[in-house]
Order: sequence, then C-alpha cells, then structure tokens
Amino acid sequence: MNIKIKKNYDEMSKQAAKIIADYIELKPDCVLGLATGSTPIGTYKELIKIHKEKGLDFSKVRTFNLDEYYGLSIDLNKPYDLDQSYARFMYEEFFKYINIKNENIYIPDGKTKDYKSYCLWYEDQIKKVGGIDLQLLGLGRDGHWGFNEPGSSLGSRTRVIALTKQTLDDNYESFYKKSNINRNNMPHFAITMGIGTILEAKNILMIVNGVKKADILAKCLEGPISSQVTSSAIQLYNGGINIVIDEEAASKLKNIDYYKHIDNLKKNLNYKNSN
Ligand code: GLP
Repeated sequence: MNIKIKKNYDEMSKQAAKIIADYIELKPDCVLGLATGSTPIGTYKELIKIHKEKGLDFSKVRTFNLDEYYGLSIDLNKPYDLDQSYARFMYEEFFKYINIKNENIYIPDGKTKDYKSYCLWYEDQIKKVGGIDLQLLGLGRDGHWGFNEPGSSLGSRTRVIALTKQTLDDNYESFYKKSNINRNNMPHFAITMGIGTILEAKNILMIVNGVKKADILAKCLEGPISSQVTSSAIQLYNGGINIVIDEEAASKLKNIDYYKHIDNLKKNLNYKNSN
C-alpha cells in the first residue's frame, strides 16, 4: 500500500488533487468515483484551482458518486432547488465550478421508488462505461466507505442501507445543524455502492485527516479484516492503492516509520528515473 503522510489537511488535499489531476491528464475520458463528507472538500477546491489556472479539462470525465440519502435528490438542471442531498453537495462544492457535463454525472437517485431495480441499474451503468478508473474515498468514524456500515458484507453491491446512530450523529454535526433541520427529520437510510462494488475500481485513493480518525484508520489498515470495519477490505484489494493522510490521522499507526521509509524510497526512485 502506498501511504503518504502529509503535514496537514491542506497538504493532504493538494496531494490527492494532484493524483486525480494526473490521472485525468493521462486519460481524459476517465471514470472517477467520487465521495462526499468534509474530508474531500479541500481536494475538490484544489481540483477547481487546477481547472481554472491550468485548464484541467473535465469535459470527457464521467463520475459516479458513492452514495445518497434515501429520500433526497436534486435535478442537476435545477440546482437551486435546494435540499441536503449529496447531489446538492457535489454541485455546490465541485461541479458548478468545472466544465463537467451533467449527462456524465451519476449520483444515486435517493427518490427512486423501485430501489432494487434502480441499484442494479446503477451497477450496470458503472459496467457500461468500463468500470471506475479511480475511486476517491473518505473514511467514516465507524470505518465505513460510502455508507457501508459495520455488518455490511465485504462482497456487498449497491443497495439501500440503514444508517447507524454514530453516522447520523456525525453527519448531523457536519451538514444538518447548519440548516436547522430537526435531527429526527434526517434520512435514516441511504443508497450506497457496496464494498464489492468499490473493490472493483481499478485504483483507490483514500484520504483521511484529523486525530478523530486516528483509531479507526489504524483498525482499517492494520487491524483484522472484518465486516465490523468495512474499509478493512482494503487489505484484500488488488488494484492501485494511494492512501493520503495527515500526521494526526497517522498518529496511531504501528508501522508508521516503515510507511515513511517506503514513501521516501519511492520518491528517490522517481527522482532517479526522471533524471
Ligand atoms: C459520510 C459519507 C462517507 C464519508 C463519511 C466521512 O458517511 N457517506 O462517504 O467518508 O461521511 O465524512 P467526513 O469526511 O465528514 O468525516
């Protein structure tokens, strides 16, 4: 696993944005898997900057979001029809600033009635475009990716899931409180890609910051592989892995010196290769 430990959130975000931007340069029509939450906001800001200052082109890029609250969605053609959906989050934090085409954006439709066929359809769309090239992931405080709460099968696919109390509390703090929504009115279910879906991406880029995530990150990377920490499935992953974290999040990792050592060796190797 390629683990990069950066000084702070800003450095982490710059590094993550660089990895994504380099990928888009390499493959302009690539398929990105995208995440929500407070962690990727800085990465999206950096990508917007690269788009504005260096012309990074999103016109052929297709994106698939990991998840959406069940019961919420918006029409991207009417983005000011505001609600607390992840679709709105993506529009406000990222899409409205770049030249991505609406028809290339896929976010689970939280208002779908026939959710079983819809989840199969979502999986099919990912297959039709040839799979996800690079999946961006944050880490929930209970170790989830997307909304794959503890107890989710490590082979799970896109489906509707009930959210845990911890996830509801965490998400209430970050988004809902601001808009004075009563906690009881928050959606208690979500549509999420499964762990099995995520593990089929060709590359994974996981970003984690802050001391609050240090314990769970250690469990994810160094603990037993378990459906109680669904992101621990990363230890079985067979594609390209980039893990970009800040020093606070890295503070509980047992093998931290070794990760730094490998990262330095890789930097030197790249340096020699480029000369
Ligand atoms: C939600 C999202 C996850 C995200 C997590 C962490 O549960 N569904 O995809 O990783 O929040 O959020 P934050 O980055 O705000 O800690």
